[in-house]
Amino acid sequence: MSIQFKNLSYEYSPDTPFAYLALKNINLTIRENKMTAIVGATGSGKSTLVQHLNALLVPTSGELVVDDKVIYSDKKNTGLKALREKVGLVFQFPEAQLFEETILKDVMFGPLNFKKTEDEAKALATQALELVNIDRELYNQSPLELSGGQKRRVAIAGILALNPDILVCDEPTAGLDPQGQIQIMELFDRFKEQDDKSVILVTHDLQDVLDYADDVVVMAHGEVIFHDTKEAFFNRTDLLSEIQNVLPKVIQFREALNKKGFNISDSVTDLEQLVYEIMKEIDHE
Ligand SMILES: Nc1ncnc2c1ncn2[C@@H]1O[C@H](COP(=O)(O)OP(=O)(O)O)[C@@H](O)[C@H]1O
Ligand SMILES: [Mg+2]
Repeated sequence: MSIQFKNLSYEYSPDTPFAYLALKNINLTIRENKMTAIVGATGSGKSTLVQHLNALLVPTSGELVVDDKVIYSDKKNTGLKALREKVGLVFQFPEAQLFEETILKDVMFGPLNFKKTEDEAKALATQALELVNIDRELYNQSPLELSGGQKRRVAIAGILALNPDILVCDEPTAGLDPQGQIQIMELFDRFKEQDDKSVILVTHDLQDVLDYADDVVVMAHGEVIFHDTKEAFFNRTDLLSEIQNVLPKVIQFREALNKKGFNISDSVTDLEQLVYEIMKEIDHE
């Protein structure tokens, strides 16, 4: 499903002393069937941007096109329920919203809310729980009994049970241990392997970007300042220093070596390549 931001701006609390222009004239076309990472400093507008994708926020000016649906700034938008079925939005710390007495019921809540029958909702919930790797034995337990990582995955399953074409997650791995983080990233990978599914991910973790993303959007002060492939992103050392995130170890090592007089290509982004390049340079001496 195509996603296109056209001259989109968003202002919080317009016409008040608190007015704040959080998105400035965004033009952005997101590729289908890819994982797109959105990175940028805190306050750069990442969360504001992704909340437009299922019309939780509507543009102050400009428009957003998702598939055949246009979200306008100046008209009463209709058909938002259909959009919210296509675009699943997972907030930061979604596990705070688990509330049913069992895991299965919690995941069935969304489909039931979208008028599925009990049987349909159960089937969708089971499928979603399988995708996020939650064991069947846990289905009748309370979500409160789960680990942090499991809770997060159940909350994501609640969105996946609506069978969205686009999964949008805001900082999905924040606060999880390394194992929990890997499980979440792997589940996005499995989701994306299905036909016509896209993932849009707000993240601080550039190692996750390196390991999993296809494309990268960089935001700064409410503007998109870069949008290209992951490979192009990790070649932009100027941008990397501007984003205050921790760089992946391999990139840090490459840059440190180059400062010391090595001449390792920007295209080197994994450990094996890096070792190969180092050996090559040492052999020359
Ligand atoms: N509800 C709000 N009212 C006013 N300003 C807001 C609100 N939410 C966010 N902002 C401001 O908009 C800017 C972008 O915020 P946000 O999209 O949350 O950034 P990010 O997700 O990149 O950290 C920030 O300066 C933030 O303070
Ligand atoms: Mg945010």
